[in-house]
Amino acid sequence: MDYDAAPPMPVADYRRVQMMIPGAEALYSCLRAVMDVSLPTGAEVLIVGAGGGREIEALAPSDKAYRLTGVDPSGDMLSVARDYVASTDATDRTVLVKGTVNDLEHGLRFDAATSMLVMHFFPDDGTKLDYLRAIRRRLRPGAPYVHADVSAADRAMFARLSPVVEAHGGLVGLPPEVAGAPGRHIGQMAFDGPKALVVPERRTLELFEEAGFRPVAPIFRSLWYAAWWAEAV
Ligand SMILES: C[S@@+](CC[C@H](N)C(=O)[O-])C[C@H]1O[C@@H](n2cnc3c(N)ncnc32)[C@H](O)[C@@H]1O
Repeated sequence: MDYDAAPPMPVADYRRVQMMIPGAEALYSCLRAVMDVSLPTGAEVLIVGAGGGREIEALAPSDKAYRLTGVDPSGDMLSVARDYVASTDATDRTVLVKGTVNDLEHGLRFDAATSMLVMHFFPDDGTKLDYLRAIRRRLRPGAPYVHADVSAADRAMFARLSPVVEAHGGLVGLPPEVAGAPGRHIGQMAFDGPKALVVPERRTLELFEEAGFRPVAPIFRSLWYAAWWAEAV
């Protein structure tokens, strides 16, 4: 998904569009809570898909004064994050890199990582697995990893949830063209096999294992938005 060439949502309005996720604040506060119980002061945290700045907003105020490295291939999404960082006292401990994990300096290792709402944009043809492996290679054994995705057991579940997601979006003031956008593509979507973008939780956990992560616990679910806490093996 290229957020610069073909943004799936109005990027400048990203914060408002995130109201699509019922309880979005809780998604990011759960991420913060996992990191705060797992990490020492000054830990190095890798934020994959850091555009928009939500993870930075959640982690930067921690007393643990994390050192944050965010990567994202979208210049537009990164500039939303950059504006947020500029308004905090975390500028000297936050680095933003335009690119993917593979563009980070060779040999850099982190104490923790996050990937929030990124992997469901990739097909399950090896791309999801390569993405997770690239993150795993950057982590020390035992490092916590928090991962969020759109997740549904199958097409039928996605189809049942779709009007609910749209109705909820309407309740929080989003226009139908935004709130109804995900549901409009169901007909062309695969839910298993190599073309699947949205996969069941079972498959996500399998991919974690294959990439070298041990699942610790599911930490969030709200309609089709879900997050897990895992650990680098
Ligand atoms: C739905 S947004 C989520 C942003 C943020 N993680 C959050 O939770 O608010 C997805 C982001 O993933 C980024 N992205 C797409 N491909 C990526 C990749 N290979 N590595 C890292 N980020 C990627 C997009 O540019 C976009 O900023």
